[in-house]
Amino acid sequence: MQTHATTRSNAGRLLKLLAAAALALGVLGGQQALAGIADTKHNLGASNGNNTNFMSTGTTEICVFCHTPHASNTNVKAPLWNKPTNGGSYQTYSTATSSTIDGSVDMSGVSLACLSCHDGTQAMDTMINQPGSGNYNAAGAQIAGGQWAGANQTAGKMIGLANLTSDLTNDHPVGIQYCGGGVSTGSASTSAASSGNCRDPDFVAPTSGTVAGTRVWWVDSAAGTTGTREKSDMILYARAPTLTGDATSGFFQPFVECASCHDPHSSTNATFLRVSNAQSAVCLTCHNK
Ligand code: HEC
Ligand code: HEC
Ligand code: HEC
Ligand code: HEC
Repeated sequence: MQTHATTRSNAGRLLKLLAAAALALGVLGGQQALAGIADTKHNLGASNGNNTNFMSTGTTEICVFCHTPHASNTNVKAPLWNKPTNGGSYQTYSTATSSTIDGSVDMSGVSLACLSCHDGTQAMDTMINQPGSGNYNAAGAQIAGGQWAGANQTAGKMIGLANLTSDLTNDHPVGIQYCGGGVSTGSASTSAASSGNCRDPDFVAPTSGTVAGTRVWWVDSAAGTTGTREKSDMILYARAPTLTGDATSGFFQPFVECASCHDPHSSTNATFLRVSNAQSAVCLTCHNK
């Protein structure tokens, strides 16, 4: 009986502990949810008055600055993209500054989505499908009567360090093949994807898998599960470059884009990084150095 009572009260204590833990987890969970995109510099709506750039009037929506549920711009390789690209061309890293680079640059990928704000040429509320009903404009337009506020913009165009400009010669290469020129082997048809190892052993070999018949690549980071594509891995974006005289020409190859290193929705790490860059973990995920 005594033993039984003790067991019971222990069980009770355990239950309380569990309840407290659950509460703590609940609170943490809540904080995590709150620390999502709404609290980041990527909330440009009038709901985020703490931001460096935000609309004081216009809309309190968050996603609309980048995505639309309907009538998106399919020329941009980012999901349901709600902005025109600026149509301009970019000066890229490889052409101007490096004699050691061996990947080829192709600026038609998802980095154009980031650069539609981060090259400073177009107002950040330029949208194809604005909030509300019947506000569609294929060429993109700013929100009527919208006002911009915050220190790092002029008339809604980005200024300062975050404005990379159209001169990307001083930025880490993007739109560039991973593995120093791509992975080594092609496969039977051009609709299928290349696989294999890095051509240049200076790179950590990527992991690949097929999703809905298309090959996808990523570089596993120390965070999360090895062999599974997760937001905390360095995501590589597939493209089929045309490389004259190359056996893998026309086959899908992995490319590095802005979003390989940054997750534009996450404040888990500073500057939207997919993993913390403590001890240069971002760099060492890809570079064997
Ligand atoms: C500042 C621009 C920006 C804002 C704001 C933004 N996104 Fe994105 N989002 C992107 C870009 C760029 C991509 C593609 C790059 C990537 O992550 O692979 C993307 C990808 C996605 C994806 C697919 C990849 C993934 O991470 O799951 C989803 C889903 C998504 N966004 C949902 C949202 C929702 C919902 C909101 C609003 C709460 C939002 N986004 C706000 C820029 C943005
Ligand atoms: C997603 C993978 C990836 C990550 C993460 C990454 N890099 Fe790179 N890096 C590349 C690729 C691919 C190239 C192009 C190299 C080539 O084609 O030879 C490159 C090129 C470079 C170059 C130019 C090399 C040359 O020959 O001119 C430098 C320097 C560099 N990276 C440094 C860094 C640093 C520093 C970090 C961390 C802040 C970093 N990289 C993170 C993939 C990555
Ligand atoms: C709708 C416009 C818009 C788009 C599209 C956009 N950004 Fe931003 N981004 C901003 C603004 C505004 C800031 C804050 C700039 C400042 O503080 O000067 C910012 C800041 C950042 C920062 C710095 C964050 C910090 O804490 O200092 C990073 C990194 C960044 N963006 C990466 C990206 C990447 C990567 C993409 C594409 C996947 C992207 N952004 C797309 C508007 C945008
Ligand atoms: C290879 C990885 C990598 C790629 C690709 C990359 N970035 Fe970054 N970016 C970083 C790292 C790492 C930092 C943080 C640097 C630091 O902490 O000093 C950063 C910082 C930034 C910042 C903040 C600058 C500041 O100091 O306030 C912006 C804005 C930004 N990136 C935008 C972009 C955009 C837009 C692209 C694509 C055109 C891009 N990044 C591509 C790794 C990358």
